[in-house]
Amino acid sequence: MCGIVGFTGRQEAAQILLEGLKKLEYRGYDSAGLAVLGKNGISMIKTTGKIANLCEKTQDGKLLPGFAGIGHTRWATHGAPTDINAHPHMSNDGKFAVVHNGIIENYAVLRDELVERGFEFKSETDTEVVVHLLSLYYNGDLKEAVMKATARLEGSYGLGVVCADYPEHIVATRQFSPLILGVGVGENYFASDVTALISHTKNVIYLEDGEVADITPDEICVYGPTGKPVEKEITRVQWDMEAAEKGGYDHFMLKEIIEQPRAIKSTVEPRIKDGKVVLEELNLSDDEIRSIDKIVITACGSAYYAGCAAKYTLEKLTRVPVTTELASEFRYSDPIIDDKTLLIVISQSGETADTISALEEAKTRGAKILAIVNVVGSRISKLADNVIYTWAGPEIAVATTKGYTTQVAVMYLFSVYMARRRGRISEDEEKRLTGEIMQIPQQIQRAIDLNPQIPSLAKEYHHNKSLFFIGRNVDYAVCLEGSLKLKEISYLHSEAYAAGELKHGTIALIEEDQPVIALSCYEPLFDKMMSNIKEVKARGAKVLGVTTEGQNRIVREADDVIFVPKTDTLFGVPSEVVPLQLFAYYVAKENGCNIDKPRNLAKSVTVE
Ligand code: F6R
Repeated sequence: MCGIVGFTGRQEAAQILLEGLKKLEYRGYDSAGLAVLGKNGISMIKTTGKIANLCEKTQDGKLLPGFAGIGHTRWATHGAPTDINAHPHMSNDGKFAVVHNGIIENYAVLRDELVERGFEFKSETDTEVVVHLLSLYYNGDLKEAVMKATARLEGSYGLGVVCADYPEHIVATRQFSPLILGVGVGENYFASDVTALISHTKNVIYLEDGEVADITPDEICVYGPTGKPVEKEITRVQWDMEAAEKGGYDHFMLKEIIEQPRAIKSTVEPRIKDGKVVLEELNLSDDEIRSIDKIVITACGSAYYAGCAAKYTLEKLTRVPVTTELASEFRYSDPIIDDKTLLIVISQSGETADTISALEEAKTRGAKILAIVNVVGSRISKLADNVIYTWAGPEIAVATTKGYTTQVAVMYLFSVYMARRRGRISEDEEKRLTGEIMQIPQQIQRAIDLNPQIPSLAKEYHHNKSLFFIGRNVDYAVCLEGSLKLKEISYLHSEAYAAGELKHGTIALIEEDQPVIALSCYEPLFDKMMSNIKEVKARGAKVLGVTTEGQNRIVREADDVIFVPKTDTLFGVPSEVVPLQLFAYYVAKENGCNIDKPRNLAKSVTVE
């Protein structure tokens, strides 16, 4: 969704801001803009459409000379995607410009008040109230005006501000929206996302809610909510530029699919020592783990499906009842949870609004919270009592791949960890299970190597308007993710069904040549799946079977087959899902879709 960047230094700001905005494109947006502080005050250019349009309109930044400025990519919420609604927004006297990530919930009341006071609104956005509040409260002290203006705001914001009276300064503040400061030499930055910074600096400061940063080329002063200076720690980002670039692949999505063995290795290996799962980051005592009588997993989209897939392993190993709830539903469901409930939230970005609300809801009811998150310093990581990072590196493609598999891998680790502490498994069993988990990177690689035919399968299946995914038990959970991947990047309609449910209605849709992707990797139910495959074949379906190496019986029934390596049934999801990610990728490629940035989608969904 919206992204913001800010720069102050001794080089032309506009080019650096444009470069930063390009790094944020993956988040999804519909318009963009820049405001730069030059010799004659603030100049601003904004436009609908891609950053390429903004480059053209600003002549690659040349029309906006100056050494400090702010930039924005907008994903419309309040007001259509138009040039006027694009950010930055400028005050009536041209003294201030503002970029904003988030939603000002009380903007309507503020707007009425400001109109009454004589301010003229140009856009339909919630953000414009901020810039007029700055004018209202400005008495020559920029920091004070920012603090007074933000004190009036309800909702979420990451804000970047420039003021014509403060030529070298950019000011940033946040509340419930991400904002990171980049510390350079003779130049400093802010951004909503670390990927916009790492080509310039790996030294960052994570701003906390309510803090205000006054940034000049040589200094960053951070103030707490009461205005007192705060000492901030500089953190070194572990990601490098290579991790945030395509590295020769046609798309980030393909790169991220291929790098899954490495991503899982960095998630898993440091947490397995001498055959034991070591989760030093957990604050849960063994007694607390033993007191848990119910686990609720909540998340959105693929993160939710990662929870659905991992539920089988968690329940099987711990014998604690596990339910999975969509975060957008959970928060309104008056959930029955208490201090014996462990709520597990899963989120790649750590910024998903529905997941945050679900977490907060559970917290007020006393549940213990464990968050599985990829982005360090994200909001969810700050709200949760316990955080296990997935360490997948930056995920740029909007459709998640390595985010999902590393989430599943962390859930596997936690399942073994919890089972051991509850006395469900012996030390020897823990050793055996961790040994199996360590095999996952090689298994994923094998799943990739076994299936060079996926691009040609995509040629065969890409013209179909609708596809079904069927499976049982954990295979059904993998169907949900496989189907979502296909939908979101190839725009084909697809549905995931529990194979046993077919005969209760859906089978009416099976007719001649209807593609059905049948997952039968979960060995205990292989025979049942064979019956389901026969049922759909008898009605003319074209079946693409997905099964484990050696299960050759499927070759007789299915029209095409994808083989995946044989794994322990507890830990098979990552190697099973990877060929489905590849299938979705190549189908989308055949259909000429915008794979890394599918239409209507945003990487991090920060609105409800
Ligand atoms: C699908 C996808 C989304 C996200 C969902 C949650 O490929 O990426 O469904 O999984 O929006 O996002 P996070 O994990 O950032 O909370």
